[in-house]
Amino acid sequence: MSYQLLFVCLGNICRSPAAENLMNDLIIKRGLSGKITCDSAGTASYHIGSPPDQRMVAAALQRGIIMKGQARQFSSSDFAQFDLILAMDRDNYQGILSLDRNQEYGHKVKLMADFCSRHKLREVPDPYFGGLDGFHQVLDLLQDACEGLLDYIQSSQQGLVPD
Ligand code: 4NP
Repeated sequence: MSYQLLFVCLGNICRSPAAENLMNDLIIKRGLSGKITCDSAGTASYHIGSPPDQRMVAAALQRGIIMKGQARQFSSSDFAQFDLILAMDRDNYQGILSLDRNQEYGHKVKLMADFCSRHKLREVPDPYFGGLDGFHQVLDLLQDACEGLLDYIQSSQQGLVPD
């Protein structure tokens, strides 16, 4: 069984699919393919079935990342399946925990930006209603957070070593 990560934002078309695709790239680069798997979801239902936002697709492509995905909504069944659930901002964090009816899974839910080491922001800002700069800022933050998150997983999960 692989170690399973779920990235969660509001719409699942900008931030969380970017995190998923950046993390998949980093997993390959660190020789951990198949040992850690990634998915993403949104707390809202607005964009179910949609591909990633074109502005994020274009911004990611400038960094050599090909964005894949189809939006889905976070569901309470995700709590048991995933090992770690990474919320992009505090609203997402609260939205996720509001579905944990028996308060069993709080230990699995973390704020993604807490894994940043170079950036000081502790939330990944919603870029949807802003300009293109916001998409690049999100990618900068997520690159930093993905590296920190993968360091954390590799140091806390003993069996997780590169091929
Ligand atoms: P995301 O961005 O949560 O990073 O996918 C958003 C996408 C859509 C909306 C808000 C944020 N929206 O209001 O439709």
